[in-house]
Amino acid sequence: MTKRRKRECAFNFTGSKRQFLPEILSVAKDYIAQDLNVLDMFCGGGSLSTSLPINWKVTANDIEYRVVDVHKYFQQALINREGDVEYVFDAIKKHCHFHVKDNKDEKGYEDLKTAHNINVKNGNTFPVDLYALLCSSNSNRLRWNSSGEWNLQFGKRYFNPSMQKSLLGYLERMAERDITFTSESFRTIDCKDYDIVIIDPPYSYDGKSTAVYNENGGWQYKDMIDTLFLCDKLDSEGKKFIYFNELITKGEPNTSLMSWANSYKTIYLDSDINESSANRTNKKSVEVMIHNF
Ligand SMILES: C[S@@+](CC[C@H](N)C(=O)[O-])C[C@H]1O[C@@H](n2cnc3c(N)ncnc32)[C@H](O)[C@@H]1O
Repeated sequence: MTKRRKRECAFNFTGSKRQFLPEILSVAKDYIAQDLNVLDMFCGGGSLSTSLPINWKVTANDIEYRVVDVHKYFQQALINREGDVEYVFDAIKKHCHFHVKDNKDEKGYEDLKTAHNINVKNGNTFPVDLYALLCSSNSNRLRWNSSGEWNLQFGKRYFNPSMQKSLLGYLERMAERDITFTSESFRTIDCKDYDIVIIDPPYSYDGKSTAVYNENGGWQYKDMIDTLFLCDKLDSEGKKFIYFNELITKGEPNTSLMSWANSYKTIYLDSDINESSANRTNKKSVEVMIHNF
């Protein structure tokens, strides 16, 4: 099995699945060298989309268009510079450091936040400003209020060496791959052209998720059930799927998921847990990857 990678992700995205790449590759080992069309339906910070086998033509989708816009912006910058990763990286680094100089530069952060919110109100979005804000926000989170304003406090952080390393890795991987970014709901996306669909929805069984993208009832039990129907549909059409979720969340069993999973194959993502111990574990959550091939 390939070495497990850290949660390295240019966006420090909650729920990043790059660390589970070895499990994905072990399931898809017969297809790694093939030219497949693959949909990463809930791509979030793109850590997975930019790490999948290089032969795969990947469509990376997420309903959060502002994050997708940042991906597209960075990708376009690479295309404009004919794949010169160093150049694009240096330009982004200069931009971030111009606005927020260090982990004490609260004024720089607040000024950028004000300017960004005015720009958005006037219909001008500058994704690189959004990226600079995220590098300095509280816990590197992404959050907007209901009027679409960025409203996070300064996180006493900046585009530090660790963020720089992650961004560089992300740009290098992006430059080597054929990725198309889209922003649609999983409910409307057409899956007919894909050989494999990777489904990594929010985990929110019984409202227990703390991820920002789950706030204000963003993801409900019914949404989870609908992703299960979607997997069944893909299976009945002869397509492959890889699905992430939790069988137990903070001690609460997800019984619908458990019985649904019996029709497919389950990989336990915590190496200390297996099928027979899952129900007896005193660990609070049991994360799994369920697949049909
Ligand atoms: C667990 S995160 C995905 C993390 C991602 N796979 C990664 O490795 O970085 C779940 C994502 O689902 C997205 N999402 C929520 N509702 C959605 C919907 N109806 N359709 C598509 N994406 C949605 C959220 O914006 C969030 O980015």
